[in-house]
Amino acid sequence: MERKKQVVTIVGAGSTRIPALIGSLINYKDRFPLKKLVLFDIDIKRIEALQDYIRLTMEKYCPEVELVFTDKDEEAYIDTDYVFCNMRAGNFEMRGLDEKIPLKYDLVGQETCGPGGFAYGMRSIGAMIDMVKKVREYAPEAWILNYTNPAAIVAVALDKAFPDDKKILNICDQPYSMIKSFAKILEVDMYDIEPRFFGLNHFGWFTKLYYTPTGEDLLPKLKSFLSGHEFKPYNAEQREASWLKTYKNVNKIMSFFPEYLPNTYLQYYFFPDEIVKDSDPNYTRADEALNGREREVLELCKKVKEQNSLEGIPLLTGAVHGNMMVEVAESIAYDLKKVFVIMTRNEGIIPNLPEDAMIEVAGELTKYGVVAYKVGEIGTFYKGLMECQYAYEKLTVEACLESNYEKALQALTLNRTIVNPVKAKAVLDDLMEANKDYWYLK
Ligand code: NAD
Ligand code: G6P
Ligand code: MN
Repeated sequence: MERKKQVVTIVGAGSTRIPALIGSLINYKDRFPLKKLVLFDIDIKRIEALQDYIRLTMEKYCPEVELVFTDKDEEAYIDTDYVFCNMRAGNFEMRGLDEKIPLKYDLVGQETCGPGGFAYGMRSIGAMIDMVKKVREYAPEAWILNYTNPAAIVAVALDKAFPDDKKILNICDQPYSMIKSFAKILEVDMYDIEPRFFGLNHFGWFTKLYYTPTGEDLLPKLKSFLSGHEFKPYNAEQREASWLKTYKNVNKIMSFFPEYLPNTYLQYYFFPDEIVKDSDPNYTRADEALNGREREVLELCKKVKEQNSLEGIPLLTGAVHGNMMVEVAESIAYDLKKVFVIMTRNEGIIPNLPEDAMIEVAGELTKYGVVAYKVGEIGTFYKGLMECQYAYEKLTVEACLESNYEKALQALTLNRTIVNPVKAKAVLDDLMEANKDYWYLK
């Protein structure tokens, strides 16, 4: 049966990740055919920088698809089927501050974890709630597939603001990226690995890696490999030093806690002191990304604009972020029931954790959304860690929605990267000043 053609809206389309997402949409055009593609950003100048590349590329590979570039809500959302949301409230300028301000207090400076993730969360919550309201005005039935970070906090906030909306999903590509890396080590096709996983976003563990052709769990084999070899991402040759160190810290975490295989982001919670010591307060991941992906993509798009053609220009494709976004939408659109690691409301999946926690687990993606695999009761160590982190997430969302300073301070004190209320207060006051155009607490 021929697959129905879809209308997709990309929110935050001025991001330099979007050309590679377009490449994924092109590569998957028979699996996830498009009728119309809308590129929306609140800052039309960001889109304009990429526009000629995107227009010429779509004309070359998908001339039948209607293409719209806009900063208007109605044009963006009217009749859309899928909203791929990839916005950054405050742009890279604020990402830099999220990463640098905590380092002044010897605290982890990271975009999604610790005080930086908190400040970013406070910015994302308002922007995301606004976006969902606008989408629902024009497209009540559209799927909203959110990738905006800190996805853990955004997921809790959207669940609180829109508890009955069953068509909002929050997704992270890091488990997908890790599975791609496991597959390379194990010399199997990543699509033959079916994971089992539990945790919160950027705070979880792989518990099984089923190899579907035989049913064997490959995790023991992978763990034994990793006890003697450095864990490297599948594309290690192209990754910057900070990411290579991050992957290597999976080995370090497992040398203490070998039971499950941790998400790379747990390094910030287990080894905050070492992370701070290794950080350069004048050159963080934001600088690295600006001088890497941002510069390369903008230069390429500028060249296309100047020559007004794609001559000598490669097709950018997204091996992880872009592919995952399209595969997720494809599984929902055509009810494929493919397995992804994805966020969902707990509601008994892990019976010894709060019902309302937004957990990250493996599940099938169907036309009704996530059908999660039951995890069962988790061990005391993981329960303790997750309860503390979930309390941090929940208090952060409440602090934001109620402009409540005390709850923010409680949240930061619960965060394992901080713990000390004196430091929590100092960094909170500094972040509040830096974010005064976005949020304020009383
Ligand atoms: P970026 O800063 O390069 O681009 C983001 C774009 O969003 C900018 O063009 C900006 O103008 C736009 N924007 C800001 N506020 C907006 C709003 N209210 N409505 C619409 N557009 C808005 O960002 P990036 O590095 O590509 O990251 C984009 C987002 O995706 C971030 O939240 C990032 O953390 C997240 N991300 C998530 C995953 C994941 O696994 N979930 C992976 C990669 C990136
Ligand atoms: C992974 C994470 C995302 C995060 C991204 C940062 O993909 O899952 O949540 O946004 O890394 O990548 P960057 O290259 O911007 O540092
Ligand atoms: Mn992520």
